[in-house]
Amino acid sequence: MLYADYNGSVPLLPAVRDYLRRRLDSELFANPNAIHSVGQRLMQGLERARRIVAEAVGCHPDQVLFNSGASEGISTVLYSVLEFSPAKKKVIITSPIEHPAVAKALAYYEREKGYLVKRVHVDGAGRVDVDHLRLLLERHSEELALVAIMAANNETGVLSPYNQIGRACAEARVPFFSDTTQLIGKDAFNFEASGMDYAVCSGHKLGALTGTGFLVAKDPTTLQPLIFGSSQERGLRGGTQNYLGIETVAVAMEDFSTHLDGLKQLRRARLDFEKAIRRQHPKSVIIAEAADRLPGTTLIGYPGLHGQAVQIELESQDIFVTTSAACTDNQPETSEVLRALGVSDDLGRSVVRISFGHRQGEAEYARVLSALSSAYNKLTRIRSY
Ligand SMILES: Cc1ncc(COP(=O)(O)O)c(C=O)c1O
Repeated sequence: MLYADYNGSVPLLPAVRDYLRRRLDSELFANPNAIHSVGQRLMQGLERARRIVAEAVGCHPDQVLFNSGASEGISTVLYSVLEFSPAKKKVIITSPIEHPAVAKALAYYEREKGYLVKRVHVDGAGRVDVDHLRLLLERHSEELALVAIMAANNETGVLSPYNQIGRACAEARVPFFSDTTQLIGKDAFNFEASGMDYAVCSGHKLGALTGTGFLVAKDPTTLQPLIFGSSQERGLRGGTQNYLGIETVAVAMEDFSTHLDGLKQLRRARLDFEKAIRRQHPKSVIIAEAADRLPGTTLIGYPGLHGQAVQIELESQDIFVTTSAACTDNQPETSEVLRALGVSDDLGRSVVRISFGHRQGEAEYARVLSALSSAYNKLTRIRSY
């Protein structure tokens, strides 16, 4: 089988699998907060994992907070900033292409807590308009609580100019949270250079165990616990730490940062694949083709076809992709993200997302090209009957 849904979840990396096989045979299972020697060894492992993660993302270990993943990290950041913001700071700037973990949380703060949410423009290729952001920052300079703009879009793979956004936010003295769920582990990233105040990560998007992840905060004293408990994670996240999961996050981050050269090959293979499919099927459309995107993400449509039909055709050839369209009552609809890009329903309904990680390349794209091309041939033939 060929799994091509790395933006959905990354299968356990070989290094993580090897680590777990060895690790499960060890006797090291205990409460890492206990002061007996087994607990202490686990705690040392946890702190080692924190140092590895910090080194891989370019921050200080004290800035890393382990948790259950990106959704928890996002909720923690928004709660910490928005529940404790001064009364006059009631404006949030975000984008219209955020993941529901951010978009729905902001809708809650807008509905229940009196915040005003402003959305920065994005162009037809999903790129954030930094000039419009600067305008909004200036217009609301006295009332700004937070800027929340994602770093890489899960559907299109489009990268935001987060360095520029970070600089603009620093000048405007407003905290900048970027949803880095799709960026960390899929492209090179350095927290300190990014200008972000907060970033998040899910272990399963790295090839580590699900139910793990971390949050990075430039100033951890600005955080508030979302989960109360003892003094775990310096009192910022109650509950016994998922130490085994955290260890796999460190293994995956280390594996990723020592294989960064794989990203170049991945990007080249993806661009060659996109060129080839466009040549073979001139009516196909690469969504956000003009934008800088994650090395291994392609969102491709073929107006008039149904994305789910394409998906099923690929699955019959043992290739697993997703559509980015949400389905209601069997009525495939264009996703909110694609609507924000001005994508027509005809095209929006037809898309499938093909996503890989730093260990895939030419061979995988060759298989997808052949299967997708025959799927398009078959489905366009059926449609023309
Ligand atoms: C951009 C983005 N943010 C947040 C999330 C939420 O991640 P999780 O479900 O691992 O908490 C996802 C998951 O797909 C995502 O793609």
